[in-house]
Amino acid sequence: MLVGKRITLIIGGGIAAYKSLDLIRQLRRAGAAVTPVLTRSGREFVTPLSVAALAEAQVHEDLFDLKDEVEMGHIQLSRASDLIVVAPATANLMALMVAGLADDLASTLLLATDTPVMIAPAMNVRMWQHPATQRNLAQLRADGVEVVGPDVGHMACGEHGPGRMAEPAAIVAAIAAHFGPRPLAGQKVLVTSGPTHEPIDPVRYIANRSSGAQGTAIAAALRDLGAEVVFVTGPATVPPPEGVSVQKVETAREMLAATESALPVAVAVCAAAVADWRVTQEATQKMKKGAQDLPVIEFSENPDILATLATHARRPRLVIGFAAETENVVAHARAKRTRKGCDWILANDVSHGSGIMGGAENTVHLITADGVEDWPRLPKPEVARRLAQRIAEALA
Ligand code: CTP
Repeated sequence: MLVGKRITLIIGGGIAAYKSLDLIRQLRRAGAAVTPVLTRSGREFVTPLSVAALAEAQVHEDLFDLKDEVEMGHIQLSRASDLIVVAPATANLMALMVAGLADDLASTLLLATDTPVMIAPAMNVRMWQHPATQRNLAQLRADGVEVVGPDVGHMACGEHGPGRMAEPAAIVAAIAAHFGPRPLAGQKVLVTSGPTHEPIDPVRYIANRSSGAQGTAIAAALRDLGAEVVFVTGPATVPPPEGVSVQKVETAREMLAATESALPVAVAVCAAAVADWRVTQEATQKMKKGAQDLPVIEFSENPDILATLATHARRPRLVIGFAAETENVVAHARAKRTRKGCDWILANDVSHGSGIMGGAENTVHLITADGVEDWPRLPKPEVARRLAQRIAEALA
């Protein structure tokens, strides 16, 4: 996948540096040559010896290393690769890059290079959300730096939120996308994602456990293959991907309106967990307890977005849905494919014990007119990449 590619990997100081060892291994396995650069603080988390052993290459550490300067000056080092990857990219490294400071080998390389740069940020959630870091992030993007992650989750510091370094597999995929072919260039695709919220009164709503992780990963994978992605998302917990057009909605009816206004598209992937029912009469004021007997809520059926797209006058060439099932997964999903008139269904088991809804992995069965394919349990980004690849093949 990356045979012959030369990657300079700058390992910043952060607990996520341990994942960089796995990143090196995966890059090597994919055929890339890795030139590691370890910052002074990175050295507090991983040893030069382990980095060198995995990379099967010398580790560069100091700006004024006489041996390095004789054999390969830092200017050449900065240019002798096809891509510079900074993983983990700390808040400090990002700030140095934005400011154009060069006070150690890593920052000097980054300033001296004309090679493309990709960063995988990793830091405490408050540091990530700080306006200074967000300003720096926006500037780095404007400077053409590619950004992968960070992920949302529990962090070593005990907090929860965005800030975890993207998994090595996701970084390798982003690197592959950087070099790879873009078979979906020129194609517009639509992805629905996340839950919907159906209001009961101004403060209460009906929701479900969807995090939006699978839909977000699918949008990112389609973008990586060059597609122009319209991402219609309900109130998800996972932030939307970069580089796509994001339409935020709350209710099923708003989601339908946003999807219809995105047409025409070549492909629609309906990954949203749309509420089947809404409250018929949303109370205009907050419902008060004691003011009446226990409230009785009357429901109306919501529009089916997937079925609407599948029978639409401007039907996308490929209409893909999910089937969230808790029993008889494949049988129910096959029936759903026929009932809704879509081309493919990805069936998954969302029963409580499966850990799929809101989790990091998914086990799907791809149901097409030709039959059923059972995919192994995979990280959601990997499911997304496989699906995007299949979509690209189907449109070719
Ligand atoms: N879907 C949709 N609009 C709805 C309900 C579902 O677009 N109002 C889509 C989902 O995005 C998914 C597919 O339909 O791609 C199947 O959703 P699922 O919740 O599994 O099925 P339901 O339609 O709710 O059917 P059932 O209640 O029989 O499980």
